[in-house]
Amino acid sequence: MPDSVLVHAPATVANLGCGFDVLGLALAAPYDTLRLRRTDAPGLTIAHLDDYGLPTDPAHNVAGAALRALLARVPEPVGFAVEIRKGIRPGSGVGSSAASAAGAVVGANALLGNRFSRLELADFAMAGEAVASGARHADNIAPAIFGGLTLVRALEPALDIVALPAPPLWVAVVHPQIEINTRDARQVLPAAVPLGLAVRQWANVAGLVAGFLTADFALVGRALEDHVVEPARAPLIPGLAEARRRALAAGALGGGISGSGPSIFMLNRDGETAHAVAAALGSVFAELGIAYQLHVGRIAGEGARVVAE
Ligand code: HSE
Repeated sequence: MPDSVLVHAPATVANLGCGFDVLGLALAAPYDTLRLRRTDAPGLTIAHLDDYGLPTDPAHNVAGAALRALLARVPEPVGFAVEIRKGIRPGSGVGSSAASAAGAVVGANALLGNRFSRLELADFAMAGEAVASGARHADNIAPAIFGGLTLVRALEPALDIVALPAPPLWVAVVHPQIEINTRDARQVLPAAVPLGLAVRQWANVAGLVAGFLTADFALVGRALEDHVVEPARAPLIPGLAEARRRALAAGALGGGISGSGPSIFMLNRDGETAHAVAAALGSVFAELGIAYQLHVGRIAGEGARVVAE
């Protein structure tokens, strides 16, 4: 058993339009890098090798909270010293908190002889996500741990995650540098959904999953439509409608807000189209005078993993 591991934990796109809090996919990049060392003394120390000013008190740090949940299930006295280098900007909408939480528990599991299943790791990592957003949701955690495309079928009475193979699509993401935190973005959501809208929404969720599984990417494009969450959050993201218009004109299948935003994702049939779509997305924010970052890559088949000991 190693006593130190280096872990990469990927960014993720949650919701995928219609699948609020249930669907998600893993990106090949960006990713967080974590070094974990096992210590004989019980307890946790967290250090951040970046300048985002994130809390390092384990109770208030997403990786710390996830590790505390894991340690509660470990009978022997053991602790971890963790160093985190954020490759994913906090508040970007591509699962920054989920990546640190997932990377921490995957690394700790390797240091404990891989005694926990991926489903158990996802359950621990959700404790970290709750610290970040105040809500228990696993739609970033699931792809951050399982990779590919994931469906969180239930949180209660037990976490139930369906891991689907990664479709051979490319993702273009624009991250406009606007502050939106998940907690605030959840507060603008409607408390109730009219039945007619709910019917259209779950028809799209079923269509999207069917499109992925049968490689019917025209269906994927038609189903990337959100009648419930995007209308409430759209006012938080200037340029969203224009970004979608230009991305579709550049050949994207479809897309929407990535997680709770402000990032916007678009799915594409190939890399060339994804790069053209990313440029189209970026052009909107350049014209608005808003700084932005672009990420282009395939859907990653793997989630958080040990890359060196
Ligand atoms: N499903 C969550 C939300 C994801 O949209 O609030 C947060 O990244």
